[in-house]
Amino acid sequence: MGMQDLIEVKGLSKKYGKLTVLDRLSFTIQKAEIFGLLGPNGAGKSTFISILATLCRPTDGDILINGLSVTKQSDKIKKNLGFVPQEIALYPMLSGIDNLNFWAGIYGLSGGIKKERIQQALSVVRLEDRAKDRVDNYSGGMKRRLNIAVALLHHPDILIMDEPTVGVDIQSRKYIMDAIKALKKEGKTIIFTSHYIDEMENLCDRIALIDKGSIKSIGTVGELQRIYGREKIEEILLDFLRD
Ligand SMILES: Nc1ncnc2c1ncn2[C@@H]1O[C@H](COP(=O)(O)OP(=O)(O)OP(=O)(O)O)[C@@H](O)[C@H]1O
Ligand SMILES: [Mg+2]
Repeated sequence: MGMQDLIEVKGLSKKYGKLTVLDRLSFTIQKAEIFGLLGPNGAGKSTFISILATLCRPTDGDILINGLSVTKQSDKIKKNLGFVPQEIALYPMLSGIDNLNFWAGIYGLSGGIKKERIQQALSVVRLEDRAKDRVDNYSGGMKRRLNIAVALLHHPDILIMDEPTVGVDIQSRKYIMDAIKALKKEGKTIIFTSHYIDEMENLCDRIALIDKGSIKSIGTVGELQRIYGREKIEEILLDFLRD
């Protein structure tokens, strides 16, 4: 294990009955890294993300975060994780700020700190102006951004996001990408999935290519281009789908 390894995935497998969804994954993620998971539908990205976020148990193996096991020490780990699910998880009848108030309460925040954290989170995702509007009046991109704000309230060191930019317009996408970059600068580690390859290339320190439950390669964009002898990551993915 290297000095900066924050997350250690060790022989991780997940099966549903006879279906192997994740097959003995082993790799590490470093502190303050932006780490992307890229792969076709059904590759196992969300399954991996859910295990990392301690929401789902592996069939075999484990993930250590700062030496703590996601299977055995999930309570300790959760305090340090922010999770943005693939599906929007918000109360549509409440305003943005009331959604944040609700979740801040769940995280045990109160008083001045709670107010401050909510304002900070709103500012990271650029939703200050619309905070008092009901969420069912938000656009898809604004809902996504609010979901990210929720995940930031307790100041986690690790942010896990499953398709944070799916279906959002270019402005929301830019705000989300800027937020990811700013969080990295603060020393946070960000793990996310996306089907937008340009966005992955632009943001990620390293990308893991995942297909049919296996990691095919992990590397910087340059490394992946060299490994596969292809200019475009998209072509590498299309090769997987042809197999
Ligand atoms: N609860 C479950 N029971 C049975 N099979 C499941 C369950 N959850 C996921 N799967 C299967 O696991 C495989 C991987 O699914 P997963 O959601 O991890 O893929 P993904 O890479 O996130 O895909 P997408 O890009 O479409 O979001 C799929 O074949 C899926 O049908
Ligand atoms: Mg998914």
